[in-house]
Amino acid sequence: MRTCPLMLLCLFLVLVVCAKSDPDPLQDYCVAATQSSQTFFVNGAPCINPANAAPSHFTTTALSKPGNTAANPLGFNVTLTNIRNLAGMNTLGLTMARVDIAGNGLVPPHTHPRASEVTILIKGSLLVGFVDTSNRLFTQQLREGDSFVFPKGLIHFLYNLDSKAPALSVSGLTSQNPGAQLASAATFTTKPSIPDDILKKAFQINGQDVSRIRKNLGG
Ligand SMILES: *[C@@H]1O[C@H](CO)[C@@H](O)[C@H](O)[C@H]1NC(C)=O
Repeated sequence: MRTCPLMLLCLFLVLVVCAKSDPDPLQDYCVAATQSSQTFFVNGAPCINPANAAPSHFTTTALSKPGNTAANPLGFNVTLTNIRNLAGMNTLGLTMARVDIAGNGLVPPHTHPRASEVTILIKGSLLVGFVDTSNRLFTQQLREGDSFVFPKGLIHFLYNLDSKAPALSVSGLTSQNPGAQLASAATFTTKPSIPDDILKKAFQINGQDVSRIRKNLGG
């Protein structure tokens, strides 16, 4: 009985540590050594010798060109910065994303398990929203120049309201490795498949529905 409060404190500390964002860097920068043949594993990528850091490590053209939205049936394409195209962002706890969405295209409901996201609509008009853990929907119609925040880990979406004009949004995310989990893919197109009985019960649908949704989603 006496150890109980201590155990609760330990559990609390473990939860707090698990919920933390990327660790703070211990030096000005840690330009990712993406070429090195890594023989050990660290949380992130090892750094090059700081004396060899150059301005080019801190710049990228990765977001300068529109992503091709035609190949995706939902009509969107997300281009991300990462330590391969922007080695200087290693350990800095951030990612940028260029989100191109075709007319009536949709970035379907998804979460980033390690990052909050703020997006600014550069071009077009978007309906965006997220759902909190009490299932409340927060949604907003964005016009050019408007921004919207998606809190860490919550399901969110971006939909282009215009049937013809493409939309362009640029996001900042609070992790160098935000991760993305699409609700539809994480349920219907996993490898191996989630057993039909589970999907039938979870979504209150029949076996044919399960097969149809799987097929529609390319699973
Ligand atoms: C996104 O656009 C890039 C650049 O055009 C292209 O190489 C890539 O295949 C596209 N991704 C998808 C999933 O369509």
